[in-house]
Amino acid sequence: MKASGRPEPDAPIRSRRYKVGQQEIVRGDCLRVLRRMQADSVDVVVTSPPYNIGLSYRSYPDRKEEAHYLDWMMEVAAGLQRVLRPDGSFFLNISGSSAQPWLPFELAVRLRSLFVLQNHIAWVKSISVGEDSFGHFKPMNSKRYLHRGHEHLFHFTLNGDVMLDRLTAGVPYKDKSNIARRGHKQDRRCRGDAWFIPYETVRDRAEKFDHPGTFPVALPEQCILLHGRKEASVLDPFMGTGTTLLAAQRMACRGVGIEIDADYVAIARRRLEEDQLCTEEG
Ligand SMILES: C[S@@+](CC[C@H](N)C(=O)[O-])C[C@H]1O[C@@H](n2cnc3c(N)ncnc32)[C@H](O)[C@@H]1O
Repeated sequence: MKASGRPEPDAPIRSRRYKVGQQEIVRGDCLRVLRRMQADSVDVVVTSPPYNIGLSYRSYPDRKEEAHYLDWMMEVAAGLQRVLRPDGSFFLNISGSSAQPWLPFELAVRLRSLFVLQNHIAWVKSISVGEDSFGHFKPMNSKRYLHRGHEHLFHFTLNGDVMLDRLTAGVPYKDKSNIARRGHKQDRRCRGDAWFIPYETVRDRAEKFDHPGTFPVALPEQCILLHGRKEASVLDPFMGTGTTLLAAQRMACRGVGIEIDADYVAIARRRLEEDQLCTEEG
């Protein structure tokens, strides 16, 4: 243990568990925690691991040697394969950087040995349509690289044959005449594989919980909705500030979130408790 009270980076972290309603938060190393979880017990994994691009997390150093990072992610993925139900979905949100554009693709190719890539969704964070633009634009000063407006959302399954609830997760028809012409029973069509989910606008880092890599709650909500099982069991092995568990809580699902950093665990607990209070009061 360091004098600061934080464990040394390589020391094994003792896991601790907290419950907020139907959500269970485990503070610990996901590799170790996954080993203790029951096989075939999870319907939906939604997660965004560290991208290995040097983000400033509170304690996790986001810059491993690339081969080491890929091996580590494969070990985590093998743990996820074991706990996923045969008809489960594993949504992996990841992005590269201008300096490391291949990394997400290299990981996805290696994951072929464990999963089938059933869908590849582009999570669009900002987009320009004609002369108009939507979503949060974070300027990038470069003559070589384009502004990064999207991230990957790989949808892996064990055999590529998982039935999805495309319509509940879908959108109404723009042209209503299509409903009768194509013989559809309801005014709903598939959303497609480009999801525009902008960040909420925030004034400072504190409003993003001082965490450099959160996703909006609408992202895991959309994944859980698409998987389409009522009261699903949801897992996020890299929980961060608890966004996936917040989505699970709002959708009456059971969730397990694993996070190595005690401060992020505290933030996740607070978010879940406050959200529960809002729901009870509202
Ligand atoms: C990209 S962030 C996830 C953010 C999350 N989606 C959110 O909205 O808050 C990745 C997280 O993984 C955590 N982490 C890194 N190594 C871990 C490990 N071995 N086990 C569990 N969590 C880990 C980091 O502390 C970081 O909070």
